[in-house]
Amino acid sequence: MSTVLFLDSGVGGLSVWQETVARLPHSSYIYAFDNLFFPYGEKEDSTIIERCCLLVRSILRREHADMIVVACNTASTVALPALRAEFSLPVVGVVPAVKPAAAMSRSKVIGLLATPATVRRRYIDDLVANFAADCTVVRLGSLELVQIAEEKMRSGMVSVDAVRACLRPLGNADGLDTLVLGCTHFPWLRSEIQECLGQGIACVDSGQAVARRICSLLPPGEKSAANGGNAFRRAYQTDGSGDYRELFTRIGFGAPLLLRTD
Ligand code: DGL
Repeated sequence: MSTVLFLDSGVGGLSVWQETVARLPHSSYIYAFDNLFFPYGEKEDSTIIERCCLLVRSILRREHADMIVVACNTASTVALPALRAEFSLPVVGVVPAVKPAAAMSRSKVIGLLATPATVRRRYIDDLVANFAADCTVVRLGSLELVQIAEEKMRSGMVSVDAVRACLRPLGNADGLDTLVLGCTHFPWLRSEIQECLGQGIACVDSGQAVARRICSLLPPGEKSAANGGNAFRRAYQTDGSGDYRELFTRIGFGAPLLLRTD
């Protein structure tokens, strides 16, 4: 059976893992999160590239993996070429679902909700030019929303009013009918976001598409329970502070181990 390594700055990437494990319940998973540098959404591109390479290098010194999944839009939109150049494993990234959103939208006014780093990326300009040229794309970058999602995952606590305040700038986007959740943390706030925006706006993310891509790159026997006897789940964090034990234990990873990256 294969071992799939997931990376993110925090626990947002678990939204992609969740879609993946629903399809491949018998595979082994390593989830590494760089909470020492969380959030990535305000960091320089060069820092994010360096951190992603360092994280994978540190993990591969202790673990075998068959595939790397960059379960973070902020990192994927900048670090995939460096990761592919350094590591010979397949590297799968997450791209904001601009293409499906543009296809779904009737009003042709769509929103992109992501980190400040992601919304200003050249990568997004190209994505919009190639797949949403007929749409008005309203971009909103919010780090606060990332923090709110991280906190919700860790403690279960979330303030809908705080989410509403983050989304306020979208109120000016006349006719908006589709919102891209372009950060892997945001599917964890889907119900609060939907409550604030109303049911008339469809929220789309890339989790299922990425999970399908992961499945397509793994051997065909991967789905079979017969091969899954020794499957394991392990989590690593780069900073020991922050209480992630309960969350990761609940989903079968056990308490995250400390991964030193210095
Ligand atoms: N989950 C990440 C993303 O998809 C990054 C959040 C952050 O660290 O700013 O963009």
